[in-house]
Amino acid sequence: MAFFGNKVVREDLKQALVDDVFHSVARRYDLMNDLMSGGLHRAWKDVLVTAVNPPRPKGRPGRLDDKTKQPFALLDLASGTGDVALRIADIGGPGTRITVADINPEMLAVGRERAAKAGRDIAFIEANAESLPLPDRAFDVVTIAFGIRNVPRIELALAEAHRVLKIGGRFLCLEFSSVDVPGLDALYNLYSFNIIPALGRAVTGDAEAYRYLVESIRKFPQPAIFAEMMRAAGFRRASFQRLTGGVVALHSGWRL
Ligand SMILES: C[S@@+](CC[C@H](N)C(=O)[O-])C[C@H]1O[C@@H](n2cnc3c(N)ncnc32)[C@H](O)[C@@H]1O
Repeated sequence: MAFFGNKVVREDLKQALVDDVFHSVARRYDLMNDLMSGGLHRAWKDVLVTAVNPPRPKGRPGRLDDKTKQPFALLDLASGTGDVALRIADIGGPGTRITVADINPEMLAVGRERAAKAGRDIAFIEANAESLPLPDRAFDVVTIAFGIRNVPRIELALAEAHRVLKIGGRFLCLEFSSVDVPGLDALYNLYSFNIIPALGRAVTGDAEAYRYLVESIRKFPQPAIFAEMMRAAGFRRASFQRLTGGVVALHSGWRL
Protein backbone atom coordinates (compact mmCIF):
# COMPACT_ATOMS: atom_id res chain seq x y z
CA MET A 1 0.00 0.00 0.00
CA ALA A 2 1.06 3.62 -0.49
CA PHE A 3 -0.16 7.06 0.43
CA PHE A 4 -1.69 9.24 -2.25
CA GLY A 5 -1.93 12.38 -0.14
CA ASN A 6 -3.89 11.24 2.92
CA LYS A 7 -5.55 8.36 1.08
CA VAL A 8 -4.16 4.85 1.32
CA VAL A 9 -4.06 3.31 -2.16
CA ARG A 10 -2.59 0.19 -3.71
CA GLU A 11 1.07 0.90 -4.51
CA ASP A 12 0.59 -0.06 -8.17
CA LEU A 13 -2.27 2.45 -8.51
CA LYS A 14 -0.49 5.48 -7.03
CA GLN A 15 1.50 6.46 -10.13
CA ALA A 16 -1.62 6.86 -12.30
CA LEU A 17 -3.17 9.13 -9.67
CA VAL A 18 0.00 11.23 -9.48
CA ASP A 19 0.12 11.42 -13.28
CA ASP A 20 -3.46 12.78 -13.34
CA VAL A 21 -2.44 15.57 -10.94
CA PHE A 22 0.45 16.78 -13.10
CA HIS A 23 -1.46 16.26 -16.34
CA SER A 24 -4.12 18.57 -14.97
CA VAL A 25 -1.80 21.36 -13.77
CA ALA A 26 1.09 21.22 -16.32
CA ARG A 27 0.28 24.45 -18.19
CA ARG A 28 -0.14 26.47 -15.00
CA TYR A 29 2.50 24.65 -12.95
CA ASP A 30 5.22 27.33 -13.02
CA LEU A 31 2.80 30.17 -12.34
CA MET A 32 1.35 28.27 -9.38
CA ASN A 33 4.83 27.67 -7.95
CA ASP A 34 5.45 31.41 -7.91
CA LEU A 35 2.04 32.22 -6.44
CA MET A 36 2.05 29.51 -3.77
CA SER A 37 5.56 30.12 -2.53
CA GLY A 38 5.60 33.89 -3.06
CA GLY A 39 8.61 33.26 -5.33
CA LEU A 40 10.48 31.40 -2.58
CA HIS A 41 10.85 28.26 -4.72
CA ARG A 42 13.34 30.26 -6.78
CA ALA A 43 15.54 30.85 -3.73
CA TRP A 44 15.32 27.16 -2.74
CA LYS A 45 16.29 26.12 -6.27
CA ASP A 46 19.18 28.60 -6.15
CA VAL A 47 20.52 26.77 -3.09
CA LEU A 48 20.28 23.50 -5.02
CA VAL A 49 21.98 24.95 -8.10
CA THR A 50 24.79 26.39 -5.96
CA ALA A 51 25.37 22.91 -4.51
CA VAL A 52 25.41 21.39 -8.03
CA ASN A 53 28.18 23.84 -8.87
CA PRO A 54 28.73 23.08 -12.57
CA PRO A 55 31.99 24.25 -14.15
CA ARG A 56 31.11 27.76 -15.26
CA PRO A 57 32.53 30.57 -17.36
CA LYS A 58 34.93 32.72 -15.39
CA GLY A 59 36.83 35.91 -15.91
CA ARG A 60 35.83 38.60 -18.35
CA PRO A 61 32.62 38.09 -20.35
CA GLY A 62 33.36 36.22 -23.55
CA ARG A 63 36.64 34.81 -22.24
CA LEU A 64 36.33 31.19 -21.19
CA ASP A 65 39.01 29.52 -19.14
CA ASP A 66 39.90 25.84 -19.57
CA LYS A 67 37.91 24.69 -16.56
CA THR A 68 34.76 25.93 -18.22
CA LYS A 69 35.06 23.31 -20.94
CA GLN A 70 35.33 20.50 -18.43
CA PRO A 71 32.78 17.81 -19.27
CA PHE A 72 30.02 17.77 -16.68
CA ALA A 73 26.98 15.50 -16.99
CA LEU A 74 23.88 16.32 -15.00
CA LEU A 75 20.64 14.35 -14.72
CA ASP A 76 17.57 16.09 -13.31
CA LEU A 77 14.89 13.59 -12.29
CA ALA A 78 11.16 14.37 -12.06
CA SER A 79 12.18 17.51 -13.90
CA GLY A 80 8.63 18.66 -14.62
CA THR A 81 8.85 21.80 -16.73
CA GLY A 82 12.67 21.74 -16.59
CA ASP A 83 12.99 24.62 -14.13
CA VAL A 84 16.09 23.27 -12.35
CA ALA A 85 17.74 22.11 -15.58
CA LEU A 86 17.27 25.53 -17.18
CA ARG A 87 18.82 27.25 -14.16
CA ILE A 88 21.87 24.97 -14.40
CA ALA A 89 22.08 25.46 -18.18
CA ASP A 90 22.09 29.23 -17.57
CA ILE A 91 25.28 29.10 -15.51
CA GLY A 92 27.10 25.98 -16.78
CA GLY A 93 30.05 26.17 -19.15
CA PRO A 94 30.08 24.64 -22.66
CA GLY A 95 31.10 21.23 -21.25
CA THR A 96 27.80 20.96 -19.34
CA ARG A 97 25.48 18.23 -20.69
CA ILE A 98 22.01 18.15 -19.19
CA THR A 99 19.50 15.32 -19.33
CA VAL A 100 16.08 15.59 -17.76
CA ALA A 101 13.67 12.78 -17.07
CA ASP A 102 10.03 12.89 -16.08
CA ILE A 103 7.22 10.37 -16.31
CA ASN A 104 4.65 12.91 -17.46
CA PRO A 105 4.55 13.89 -21.18
CA GLU A 106 2.55 17.08 -20.51
CA MET A 107 5.13 18.41 -18.04
CA LEU A 108 7.94 17.46 -20.45
CA ALA A 109 6.18 19.24 -23.32
CA VAL A 110 6.16 22.49 -21.32
CA GLY A 111 9.85 21.91 -20.50
CA ARG A 112 10.77 21.35 -24.15
CA GLU A 113 9.03 24.59 -25.11
CA ARG A 114 10.85 26.51 -22.38
CA ALA A 115 14.25 25.09 -23.43
CA ALA A 116 13.59 25.89 -27.10
CA LYS A 117 12.59 29.45 -26.21
CA ALA A 118 15.73 29.88 -24.10
CA GLY A 119 17.92 28.30 -26.81
CA ARG A 120 19.15 25.58 -24.43
CA ASP A 121 20.33 22.19 -25.60
CA ILE A 122 18.77 19.82 -23.06
CA ALA A 123 17.90 16.14 -23.61
CA PHE A 124 14.35 15.38 -22.46
CA ILE A 125 13.38 11.80 -21.78
CA GLU A 126 10.07 10.34 -20.67
CA ALA A 127 11.02 7.90 -17.93
CA ASN A 128 10.02 6.56 -14.56
CA ALA A 129 12.60 7.46 -11.90
CA GLU A 130 12.13 3.92 -10.53
CA SER A 131 13.57 2.40 -13.70
CA LEU A 132 15.79 4.67 -15.78
CA PRO A 133 16.69 3.81 -19.39
CA LEU A 134 20.18 5.20 -18.77
CA PRO A 135 23.59 3.54 -18.42
CA ASP A 136 25.45 2.91 -15.15
CA ARG A 137 27.92 5.52 -13.88
CA ALA A 138 27.04 8.15 -16.49
CA PHE A 139 26.44 11.34 -14.45
CA ASP A 140 28.48 13.64 -12.23
CA VAL A 141 25.40 14.93 -10.40
CA VAL A 142 21.81 13.70 -10.16
CA THR A 143 19.22 16.18 -8.89
CA ILE A 144 15.55 15.86 -8.02
CA ALA A 145 13.48 18.82 -6.83
CA PHE A 146 10.04 18.39 -5.27
CA GLY A 147 9.76 15.10 -7.13
CA ILE A 148 10.75 12.22 -4.88
CA ARG A 149 7.64 12.34 -2.67
CA ASN A 150 5.51 11.67 -5.76
CA VAL A 151 7.36 8.47 -6.65
CA PRO A 152 5.52 5.39 -5.33
CA ARG A 153 8.64 3.31 -4.59
CA ILE A 154 11.18 5.83 -3.32
CA GLU A 155 13.76 3.13 -2.55
CA LEU A 156 13.82 2.11 -6.25
CA ALA A 157 14.31 5.73 -7.38
CA LEU A 158 17.17 6.17 -4.89
CA ALA A 159 18.80 2.94 -6.12
CA GLU A 160 18.50 4.14 -9.73
CA ALA A 161 19.96 7.57 -8.91
CA HIS A 162 22.88 5.79 -7.23
CA ARG A 163 23.37 3.39 -10.18
CA VAL A 164 23.59 6.14 -12.83
CA LEU A 165 26.04 8.28 -10.82
CA LYS A 166 29.76 8.09 -11.51
CA ILE A 167 31.96 7.09 -8.58
CA GLY A 168 32.55 10.38 -6.79
CA GLY A 169 29.23 11.72 -8.05
CA ARG A 170 26.68 13.53 -5.92
CA PHE A 171 22.94 13.15 -5.43
CA LEU A 172 21.02 16.27 -4.41
CA CYS A 173 17.37 16.17 -3.48
CA LEU A 174 15.28 19.23 -2.68
CA GLU A 175 12.01 18.35 -0.99
CA PHE A 176 9.39 19.81 1.30
CA SER A 177 10.04 18.96 4.91
CA SER A 178 8.57 19.63 8.34
CA VAL A 179 8.55 23.10 9.83
CA ASP A 180 10.51 23.16 13.08
CA VAL A 181 9.97 26.75 14.20
CA PRO A 182 7.31 27.15 16.95
CA GLY A 183 4.46 29.36 15.73
CA LEU A 184 5.50 29.10 12.10
CA ASP A 185 4.13 25.52 11.96
CA ALA A 186 0.57 26.62 12.84
CA LEU A 187 0.71 29.47 10.33
CA TYR A 188 2.12 27.14 7.68
CA ASN A 189 -0.66 24.58 8.25
CA LEU A 190 -3.31 27.26 8.07
CA TYR A 191 -1.88 28.58 4.83
CA SER A 192 -1.34 25.10 3.33
CA PHE A 193 -4.77 23.63 4.00
CA ASN A 194 -6.84 26.75 3.36
CA ILE A 195 -5.12 29.08 0.94
CA ILE A 196 -3.24 26.68 -1.36
CA PRO A 197 -6.23 24.54 -2.52
CA ALA A 198 -8.28 27.73 -3.06
CA LEU A 199 -5.43 29.26 -5.07
CA GLY A 200 -5.15 26.00 -7.03
CA ARG A 201 -8.86 26.14 -7.86
CA ALA A 202 -8.64 29.77 -8.98
CA VAL A 203 -5.54 29.35 -11.15
CA THR A 204 -5.73 25.77 -12.50
CA GLY A 205 -9.37 24.90 -11.86
CA ASP A 206 -8.16 21.93 -9.80
CA ALA A 207 -8.28 22.33 -6.02
CA GLU A 208 -7.85 18.55 -5.51
CA ALA A 209 -4.42 18.57 -7.20
CA TYR A 210 -3.21 21.13 -4.69
CA ARG A 211 -4.88 19.37 -1.77
CA TYR A 212 -2.80 16.33 -2.83
CA LEU A 213 0.32 18.52 -2.87
CA VAL A 214 -0.26 19.72 0.70
CA GLU A 215 -1.16 16.26 2.02
CA SER A 216 1.76 14.55 0.26
CA ILE A 217 4.17 16.97 1.93
CA ARG A 218 2.89 15.88 5.37
CA LYS A 219 3.33 12.19 4.46
CA PHE A 220 6.94 12.54 3.30
CA PRO A 221 9.48 11.07 5.77
CA GLN A 222 11.26 13.37 8.23
CA PRO A 223 14.69 14.44 6.92
CA ALA A 224 16.64 12.15 9.28
CA ILE A 225 14.57 9.17 8.10
CA PHE A 226 15.06 10.12 4.46
CA ALA A 227 18.82 10.36 5.10
CA GLU A 228 18.63 6.76 6.38
CA MET A 229 16.82 5.72 3.20
CA MET A 230 19.60 7.32 1.17
CA ARG A 231 22.22 5.41 3.16
CA ALA A 232 20.27 2.18 2.59
CA ALA A 233 20.42 2.88 -1.17
CA GLY A 234 24.21 3.08 -0.95
CA PHE A 235 24.81 6.82 -0.60
CA ARG A 236 27.66 7.89 1.63
CA ARG A 237 27.98 11.04 3.71
CA ALA A 238 24.19 11.50 3.59
CA SER A 239 23.30 14.85 5.10
CA PHE A 240 20.62 17.52 4.90
CA GLN A 241 20.18 21.23 5.35
CA ARG A 242 16.85 22.75 6.41
CA LEU A 243 15.76 25.88 4.59
CA THR A 244 13.14 28.50 5.59
CA GLY A 245 12.51 27.07 9.06
CA GLY A 246 12.23 23.52 7.71
CA VAL A 247 9.63 24.21 5.01
CA VAL A 248 12.14 22.62 2.63
CA ALA A 249 15.26 20.47 3.06
CA LEU A 250 18.18 19.96 0.71
CA HIS A 251 19.49 16.38 1.00
CA SER A 252 22.91 15.38 -0.22
CA GLY A 253 24.66 12.05 -0.65
CA TRP A 254 27.68 10.77 -2.57
CA ARG A 255 28.45 7.65 -4.54
CA LEU A 256 31.91 6.78 -3.25
C1 LIG B 1 6.15 18.88 -8.15
S1 LIG B 1 6.74 18.46 -9.74
C2 LIG B 1 8.44 18.99 -9.67
C3 LIG B 1 8.93 19.54 -10.96
C4 LIG B 1 10.31 20.19 -10.96
N1 LIG B 1 11.34 19.30 -10.49
C5 LIG B 1 10.32 21.47 -10.16
O1 LIG B 1 11.00 21.51 -9.13
O2 LIG B 1 9.66 22.42 -10.56
C6 LIG B 1 6.88 16.72 -9.60
C7 LIG B 1 7.21 16.00 -10.91
O3 LIG B 1 7.47 14.63 -10.59
C8 LIG B 1 7.08 13.87 -11.73
N2 LIG B 1 6.98 12.45 -11.36
C9 LIG B 1 6.06 11.88 -10.56
N3 LIG B 1 6.29 10.55 -10.45
C10 LIG B 1 7.42 10.30 -11.18
C11 LIG B 1 8.17 9.12 -11.45
N4 LIG B 1 7.84 7.95 -10.95
N5 LIG B 1 9.26 9.24 -12.25
C12 LIG B 1 9.61 10.43 -12.78
N6 LIG B 1 8.94 11.58 -12.57
C13 LIG B 1 7.85 11.51 -11.77
C14 LIG B 1 5.76 14.51 -12.13
O4 LIG B 1 5.37 14.15 -13.42
C15 LIG B 1 6.09 16.00 -11.94
O5 LIG B 1 6.54 16.57 -13.14
